[in-house]
Amino acid sequence: MVAAGKITMKAAIMLLFFLNFIWLYTYFIDHPIPVNVHFHLHQHSLPEATSTNNLTDNDQHLPLTSPSLSVSKSWPILPSYLPWSQSSDVRLRSCEAYFGNGFTRTIDLVSRPTTDFQHKFAGGGGWFRCHYSETLRSSICEGGGVRMNPERIRMSNGGEKIEDVMGRKDEDELPIFEAGAFQIVAGERLEREKKKKLATAEFLDAYVPQGEILRHTMRELIDSVELVGDSDFKCSEWVEEPTLLLTRFEYANVFHTYTDWYSAYVSSRVTGLPRLPHVVFVDGHATTRLEEMWDALFSSHRFAKNFISPVCFRHAIFTPLGYETALFKGLTETIDCDGASARYLWANPNDSKTARLSEFGEMITSALGFPADRPRSPDLTSDINILFVRREDYLAHPRHGGKVESRLSNEQEVFDSLSQWVSNHSGCKLKLVNGLFAHMPMKEQIRAIRDASVIIGRSWSRPHSHGFCVAENHDP
Ligand SMILES: *[C@@H]1O[C@H](CO)[C@@H](O)[C@H](O)[C@H]1NC(C)=O
Ligand SMILES: *[C@@H]1O[C@H](CO)[C@@H](O)[C@H](O)[C@H]1NC(C)=O
Ligand SMILES: *[C@@H]1O[C@H](CO)[C@@H](O)[C@H](O)[C@H]1NC(C)=O
Repeated sequence: MVAAGKITMKAAIMLLFFLNFIWLYTYFIDHPIPVNVHFHLHQHSLPEATSTNNLTDNDQHLPLTSPSLSVSKSWPILPSYLPWSQSSDVRLRSCEAYFGNGFTRTIDLVSRPTTDFQHKFAGGGGWFRCHYSETLRSSICEGGGVRMNPERIRMSNGGEKIEDVMGRKDEDELPIFEAGAFQIVAGERLEREKKKKLATAEFLDAYVPQGEILRHTMRELIDSVELVGDSDFKCSEWVEEPTLLLTRFEYANVFHTYTDWYSAYVSSRVTGLPRLPHVVFVDGHATTRLEEMWDALFSSHRFAKNFISPVCFRHAIFTPLGYETALFKGLTETIDCDGASARYLWANPNDSKTARLSEFGEMITSALGFPADRPRSPDLTSDINILFVRREDYLAHPRHGGKVESRLSNEQEVFDSLSQWVSNHSGCKLKLVNGLFAHMPMKEQIRAIRDASVIIGRSWSRPHSHGFCVAENHDP
């Protein structure tokens, strides 16, 4: 586990999420989010070589987007931000390698066209490369001239209301990629071969290893990528702005979703995106209220199957699975890390210390509209808030077939007893906050956590441990 000793306040908030397994909440859907298409779509500006093809069938599916909706958002100012520039001297399994930019080894599979001449005459400008982290044993890959063929991805459509797809199996929501589900235009560089697989098994084993993950959907996605010539590369839409392609598993669980957010954040930083990317879920999961947070953090989100016809991305980023982040690996691997402020690290660079969790915490809070740099000096005159995070019964997944998951049976009893205990200590200015997170929007949850001095919640349910854990949030 990460030593939380000197970690800052906001990092502590984040650590509470990750390390104490406060199983905050899976939301179920009281109000489904309509899938709004806010991508910046260019009526197909195809490479010259293919522009003679008529794509009238596909053109009618082009959504009409007004320019004001298509603009991607700019990065918020994060007081704990430190540059993510590549530096080859990040030590293996150091704190920075786990939480920051340990993606130090770049492998070019398809090089970027270096000259205009190449771009124009040697193909539509496709490229692909991976940034590998030996510490995390995973890669952030990116490419240009990437075409997604939704009809070659077998999975449910995704984004449905949970009630509408009750009983659907998890397997049906996970993508199966047929060959050519993704393609990259490689033009004349194909040397007359019509089609070629992008990645060999050796490449995948070395840079996108399966590890302990039973279904490594991102590895399977990259395995499906074909290099094609210009004439086979037809796009009904071009997404001009950088877009993260990602697959989720426990999409309704807030801990796992944090790992997905973190992976998406790190991918955006490592690839140096100038603005917040769009997100495409390459999975077929039902909708959850957590999608609001995806929209707050990034420019927009959309499900892969919502694209009716092949869509091309000028710049696609293949985001590692949440299981491959330090947040998840920290559950089983020892990560030797101390927290430090960004200001301290500017003056004293040290890869054994990190401000990355504070940085990401500020990303979350600023996405929700909280001032990122609000000073948090303990106010001794106000009440000490004790937040009790409740776990209500809820309907988490279609796979539960309408059966709500049973939670802690005597939770109310525990709450009543705490509340009694608090009123017995009225001299201490204690205030017990009833954290009914399932009924609170994300912003209210974060507010409750920001205002809390002590957070109490049940730890992650393992077969033999159903204990409570108490974690102090800041110095008394
Ligand atoms: C494209 O469509 C136009 C009108 O719809 C037609 O006149 C033309 O012959 C078509 N071109 C090709 C290459 O199919
Ligand atoms: C870096 O941080 C570690 C752990 O906090 C500490 O033991 C070490 O002395 C620091 N190194 C430098 C050069 O300050
Ligand atoms: C609160 O005080 C009452 C009366 O003094 C006592 O009976 C009860 O056990 C106390 N409860 C707790 C939780 O401390």
